[in-house]
Amino acid sequence: MTDLDDGVAVGPLLAELGQAVLTLTAGTDARLLGLPPGDLTVTIGVGPRLVRMVDPSLPGAADLPQFSREQIAPQARGGDLLIQICAGDALVVPIVAAALLDQAGDRVRERWRQSGRRGSNVPVDQSLTAPRNPLGFIDGIVGPHTTAQEQRDLWLAGPAPVAGGTIAVLRRMELDLPRFATLSVADQEAVFGRRRDTGIPLSGGTIASDPDLGAKTPDGRYLIPADAHLRRAHSSVVGVGLMLRRSYGIDEPAAGLLFISFQNDIRTFTNTLTRMDNGDALLPFTTTTASASFLILPGFDQQHPLGATLFH
Ligand code: HEM
Repeated sequence: MTDLDDGVAVGPLLAELGQAVLTLTAGTDARLLGLPPGDLTVTIGVGPRLVRMVDPSLPGAADLPQFSREQIAPQARGGDLLIQICAGDALVVPIVAAALLDQAGDRVRERWRQSGRRGSNVPVDQSLTAPRNPLGFIDGIVGPHTTAQEQRDLWLAGPAPVAGGTIAVLRRMELDLPRFATLSVADQEAVFGRRRDTGIPLSGGTIASDPDLGAKTPDGRYLIPADAHLRRAHSSVVGVGLMLRRSYGIDEPAAGLLFISFQNDIRTFTNTLTRMDNGDALLPFTTTTASASFLILPGFDQQHPLGATLFH
């Protein structure tokens, strides 16, 4: 996360960063020092302050509100520019970060950075895999995974300058791993509403089955408890679309999770977290220590520079 100095021309900066992303991902940038980029991807987003400079009514223009269980230093809230660098080869990531910061030069100041990693993938269905998170549960099962769901809930359809982009929310959470580990497996499963080993909802079926939120035990208790994360965060319970969640395990500044969600309506995130704030069994194990949202810019190529639809 970086901030822009006052008076910096945003359009040229983004165009240059986009050009550097093209040469870095193609493996032709001397700053890679000969390392193969492999599956390197770079995702660039602009923070609410910059979006508001263009048009305060655009998606991504509003700052995230505060939520419960936050201990966020001013430095770790928000920011003007998100540069998310992902690569299978962990060595590539800091080298690409250095190259992009070098490209931006003294036009930006680094605000905060966080490295994280994903666990190995577990098959969910024929076209989807998801890793376990630091609490041992398979994470990333439910989301906009079909093209129709992506069109509906992930990509911005408009207005024209942002069409094809999306909104990203980042939340760094410290997790109380020792306390979670003292729970029995059944109690851990009740926190999420899924089986820890298989990812199957506590209402049964397969890992890919929709949870049956109405299913009860013979004595009338919900199979998926009232405060289970699965129920509190379920899109139909909250009344929002699906968010694409990609979370990363972290070990500094403390053990936890870097939560990232992508959605085409910020209310998908804010309404879900508001509902979690009012009684999700998972929340007491979390303390949020960084928070930000960004408009992820639509795709670009040599002819259509990064950010050109917004910053002329
Ligand atoms: C420590 C933090 C968190 C952890 C460890 C966590 C983990 C999980 C796990 C294991 C699942 C079930 C499997 C799956 O569908 O991927 C899940 C579901 C979900 N989580 Fe989280 N989550 C966290 C925070 C959040 C936050 C902050 C939000 C959004 C505000 C969120 C939104 C969701 C949603 C929408 C689902 C899908 C629910 C459904 O429809 O079944 N989670 N999460």
